[in-house]
Parts: sequence; C-alpha cells; structure tokens
Amino acid sequence: MAALAQSIRRNAVGLGLFAIITGGTIAVTQVMTAERIEEQAARAEAKALYEIIPENQHDNDLLSDTVKLPADNRLNSDEPVTVWVARRDDRPTGLIMPVVAPDGYSGEIHLLVGVDLQGKVLGVRVTSHKETPGLGDRIETKKSDWIHSFTGRSIGDPEPERWNVKKNGGVFDQFTGATITPRAVVKAVQKSLIYFRKHRSDIRDILNEPASPRRKPLTPEEIAGQTSEREHS
Ligand SMILES: Cc1cc2nc3c(=O)[nH]c(=O)nc-3n(C[C@H](O)[C@H](O)[C@H](O)COP(=O)(O)O)c2cc1C
Repeated sequence: MAALAQSIRRNAVGLGLFAIITGGTIAVTQVMTAERIEEQAARAEAKALYEIIPENQHDNDLLSDTVKLPADNRLNSDEPVTVWVARRDDRPTGLIMPVVAPDGYSGEIHLLVGVDLQGKVLGVRVTSHKETPGLGDRIETKKSDWIHSFTGRSIGDPEPERWNVKKNGGVFDQFTGATITPRAVVKAVQKSLIYFRKHRSDIRDILNEPASPRRKPLTPEEIAGQTSEREHS
C-alpha cells in the first residue's frame, strides 16, 4: 500500500514538473515571438515610410518627427491620430497618415497614406492585412504595382464619384476575381484625402506653418530640383 502511495506521489511530482517546464517554455516562446513580430512590424512600417517619402525628399528624422492630428472617423480612429512629418530646412513638405480600411474581404487593411501640403498623394503602402493570397494580396508592392496607382492623385483627381474600382464606375483597376479588397483601399485613400482637406488649417497650425506662408511650401518638383542641385554641387 505504502509502495503504491509512494509511486503515485512520484508520478504526481513528475507530472507537475513536466507541466511547469512545458508551461514556462510556451510562455517564454510566446513573449519572444510577440517581441519579434512587433520588431518586424516596426521595421516594415519604417521601410514603408521611407518608400513613401524617400530620404532625398526630407532632411529631418522622419521616423521620430510625429505630431497628433484630430480624431476623425474618416481615418477610422476615435483617438487623435499620430502622423509622420517630412521637413526640409525645417519647413514641412509632407506628412504620412495611418489609415484603416475597415471593409477588406477579411477585415481591416492597415495603410500609410503620404500627402504633400497641397494634398497630392506622395504614395500609399499597405502595412498589414489578412486578404487572400493570390486574390486580395495584390495590394502589396511585393505582389503587384497596383498600390502605385494612387501616387500623384488628389481629392479632385479623379472627381469624387470616380474614386472607385472600374467595375463600379471608377478609375482604379480591380483584380481578377477580387473587387472587394481594392475597393476598400480606394475608399480608404479617398477618405484620408477628405480628412486632409477638412483639417487642412488645423494641420497647418499643428505643423507650425503660417496660414498664408511667406515662403510657399516646397512642391515635390522643387524638392527634386533642389536634390539634384545638391547632388551636383
Ligand atoms: C475563398 C475566397 C477568398 C476570397 N478572397 C478575396 C479577397 O481577398 N479579396 C477580394 O476582393 N475578393 C475575394 N474573394 C472574392 C469575393 O468573394 C468576390 O467574389 C470578389 O471580390 C468580387 O466582388 P464583387 O462581386 O463585389 O465585385 C474571395 C472569394 C473566395 C471564395
């Protein structure tokens, strides 16, 4: 009887130890994985920011130069929105807004939308999504050039009703067998431009720019000109 009790005790201790070790290993792995995922997301975000406004178009530290803009459901946010500011010679030249398209095929699509101070799109990138590989994932630059079709557009180009996919009377291509994803992205980009226009004077104040600037904000063309001058000097 005593031998049986001892054997049960030994097994219980063994099982307990096994559970502790296994649980601990899983917890450590989870923490490490979460940290790695966060690090990868931050790296992907930094890469996207520098793709939208390349280093030769600003001389500030784009990654740390952020300001908060008013909350607005057009950006799908109840909280003030943190945007990145590009500056050249201390003058703001553009900003990059985080935007969420809530109505992708598989849920939210997270985007970064860069605009110059006239509201012209400098570039758009997808930072995360759950769209179907081979169908909706053509919004990624790795899969297609589609996302570049926003560059140079503005709120009036095309006119408001043509901010849609071609299948719905718009100017933007849909994908073969996938209309929902590109339409969600088009609508989200359009809303971000409406947001920019609506808050333009707040944005100017926040970026510390006079409402009627003595010096006009630089246009991307001017920036490109200055860049090549600098490169050749
Ligand atoms: C398994 C499966 C996955 C799909 N994934 C997507 C997707 O990621 N993005 C998308 O736009 N459509 C996706 N579709 C197709 C949509 O259901 C829809 O047919 C297509 O977007 C055309 O939409 P429309 O009829 O509104 O034009 C998927 C369909 C199936 C069956």
